[in-house]
Amino acid sequence: MDAICQGPPAVLDPEVDFIVEPSEIMTNRSRKPRPTPLDRRSGIPLYHQIQRRLLDQIQSGELKPGEPLPSIQQIATRMGVSQMTVRQAVGALCELGVIYSRQGRGTFISGIKLERDFRQVLSFSEETQARGATPSSKVLSFRIQAPIQEVKEALGLSDGERVFNLHRVRCGNSIPMGIESSCLPVQLCPGLMETFDPSTSLYDELAHQYGIQLMVTDEVVEVGKASAEDARLLQIAPQSPVFLFTRVSYLENGTPVEHVKSVYRGDKYKIVNRLMRMKRERLTTPHAASTKPAADAIN
Ligand code: GLP
Repeated sequence: MDAICQGPPAVLDPEVDFIVEPSEIMTNRSRKPRPTPLDRRSGIPLYHQIQRRLLDQIQSGELKPGEPLPSIQQIATRMGVSQMTVRQAVGALCELGVIYSRQGRGTFISGIKLERDFRQVLSFSEETQARGATPSSKVLSFRIQAPIQEVKEALGLSDGERVFNLHRVRCGNSIPMGIESSCLPVQLCPGLMETFDPSTSLYDELAHQYGIQLMVTDEVVEVGKASAEDARLLQIAPQSPVFLFTRVSYLENGTPVEHVKSVYRGDKYKIVNRLMRMKRERLTTPHAASTKPAADAIN
């Protein structure tokens, strides 16, 4: 008798940052697993969810460098969305350099290594889960207050506008990793104090309750030494090296939503950046300019 495949509720492979839903565990190897439907009520744009799925498939090695990406039409049919939505996701991945298009030949997976901590706007919870750990938080304070000048300017607040301030120790598998102090305009998410459990994911709450998607982030990273208080909270020796982050996150339209100061353990984190040179149609160097008349003459 064939064994019935009863997997655990979800399999999280720490190496590949890829969750296999039970519905995707195959009992018949020749059958393609059906993708889990996109979550249309999550508030997360569909193109963003598709982008994430394709990234997962590339990271897990399911889609390999040099291989063609399934066509826009195939992806659209498989995920039950319009081709325009898929085009948006594919365009964003092209910009990241993860895939590339060849005129008339299609779109291919690039050989550029995809870092685990690829610079995306991720929440602490998402980043921790992607590493195979369980996120949790110790709430130090959660209140409404007047912003200090730096926060007021960063969030573009008028006189008298107030902010939520959320101060937490963030943990991975119960190990303190960092301390975050976030400020958000009260006006953007008025009921936050009543509805939000501050030990859970802030970004999830913003997305689900307020439809707020943080799409862009400016972040400054400095190196410092843990103060006695930070060291106590992070359970490290005073004066240990730490990263000091100052982050301002924005909606797609440029509205600032969050100003955060964080202290992260230097022994647990590394900073990974990918820098890209913008493509230029034609370099406008003096040399290029001097060859132009000749080109015109040929035409
Ligand atoms: C990261 C960011 C913070 C943000 C936090 C939200 O750590 N650096 O600016 O507040 O994520 O995380 P979560 O949604 O898990 O609360």
